[in-house]
Amino acid sequence: MQATASDKEGSAASLGDMPAEEFRRYGHQLVDWVADFLGNLDTTPVFPAVSPGELRGQLPLAPPLTGETMSTILADVDRLVMPAMAHWNHPRSFAYFNSSGSGPGILGELLSAAFNVNSMLWQSCPAATELEQVTLDWVRQMVGLPAEFWGVIYDGGSSSTMHALAAAREQIVEADIREFGLAGRPELPRLRLYTSEHGHSSIDKAAATLGLGLQSVRRVAVDETYRLKPHALLEAIREDRRAGFWPFCVVATVGTTSCTSVDPLPDVADICARERLWLHVDAAHGGAAAILPEQAALFAGWEQADSIVINPHKWMFVPLDLSVLFTRRRDVLRRAFNLTPEYLKTAQEGSVENYMDYGIPLGRRFRALKLWFVLRYFGVNGLADRIREHLRLAQQFAQQVDAHPAFERLAPVPLSTVCFRAHPPGFDDEADLNELNSALLQAMNRTGQVFLSHTKLNERFVLRLVISQIRTQETQVQEVWQLAQAALRSLLANDVTGSGC
Ligand SMILES: Cc1ncc(COP(=O)(O)O)c(C=O)c1O
Repeated sequence: MQATASDKEGSAASLGDMPAEEFRRYGHQLVDWVADFLGNLDTTPVFPAVSPGELRGQLPLAPPLTGETMSTILADVDRLVMPAMAHWNHPRSFAYFNSSGSGPGILGELLSAAFNVNSMLWQSCPAATELEQVTLDWVRQMVGLPAEFWGVIYDGGSSSTMHALAAAREQIVEADIREFGLAGRPELPRLRLYTSEHGHSSIDKAAATLGLGLQSVRRVAVDETYRLKPHALLEAIREDRRAGFWPFCVVATVGTTSCTSVDPLPDVADICARERLWLHVDAAHGGAAAILPEQAALFAGWEQADSIVINPHKWMFVPLDLSVLFTRRRDVLRRAFNLTPEYLKTAQEGSVENYMDYGIPLGRRFRALKLWFVLRYFGVNGLADRIREHLRLAQQFAQQVDAHPAFERLAPVPLSTVCFRAHPPGFDDEADLNELNSALLQAMNRTGQVFLSHTKLNERFVLRLVISQIRTQETQVQEVWQLAQAALRSLLANDVTGSGC
């Protein structure tokens, strides 16, 4: 960003905020910068060639005593920040579960920061509360959940799951944990919740946070396609009951983090109904695919859940952060968190939504605004078309892997994540293969052309290609495929494992 000539103004000029005219000037400049940035991403490295501490070493240790001009600050974005940026908005960003800051989402964020309201109470900002009610009911309809599901926005999927598990814990009415806690109560059996070996680590974090302890999470075995085994779940529950534990909750996943496997929801829901356990469905990433009518089978049974998490900031093109918790048991969630000090009492209580009643955060950003922008700009069909294209690209990539003699796929592809590795003919030692594939991932990422991440499936090092970025097209996916083959050829030529293969 270039410094402008009339850059005399600055924060020290007078008290109060940046003058409106200065804001307008830099606002225009910044929007132009963002438009160029997004437009040029494809020719920018997706991951920076920096070492840890490189940016920190260039920044002053102490804050500036007097204000600086915006042009100096913006110039430092180019000079210092950009060289250390990993670009999640990049069309060749395939790591973790991606997040797309789409154009309308970015504009929604800008406006939300300008309003800077707190949506804790209806009275603290009626628009923020009512837009949250409306947009979440739109999302509910889009993903085909019945009207009895009600939604609330949290910052991320981990928060949504923590609140869901707090509600599940609250549902054990006779224990009255909200009032008396868990500590020093020898009369209470140890609580247990269940998830598959592939359930997300946020479940463990929630258990630790809620005072249940990591030991309260029992991991259930998965089948050869990484789906929770219902029979093993039932066995675990029964065994725990016999041993004096108190089973209270199951977390099933639609789209596990490593390989997007989908737990058998109808069977799990039946078990939860019979055993009277809260069913929480983690569809943080996968939930977006429920917009596609042809994918309904993946979600069969989720309407029986007590709570479901879907992250629009993962695959619905809404910028970080925005996660939605849907629940049929809104009363229980409210019972867990509702607490109103005098200064937050309002005349409308009982007749309006006060979202502070449903969670830890009191101050809440106006996140619904960017969701509203995205839903209206793309429309349901526009979102569906984009997600459908990601699914097609993933199938195409999977077929190319399957057809290549030196690569293999290590998991089914129910969504748009492909787990694959190099497995050249005659190269069969698993330790060597792990080393080779770790080197392959590093070699690919080092080029700056792509950003992929890894996982391990049955102790095998696997590359994950997650196609969920709004700017990704077939060209970029094909570039990854070409790069993977070229990088493998180069590693084999240099005999990376020293095995002589
Ligand atoms: C299946 C699943 N659930 C939950 C989460 C946590 O979501 P968040 O990063 O929004 O806290 C993740 C993160 O990738 C995930 O993959």
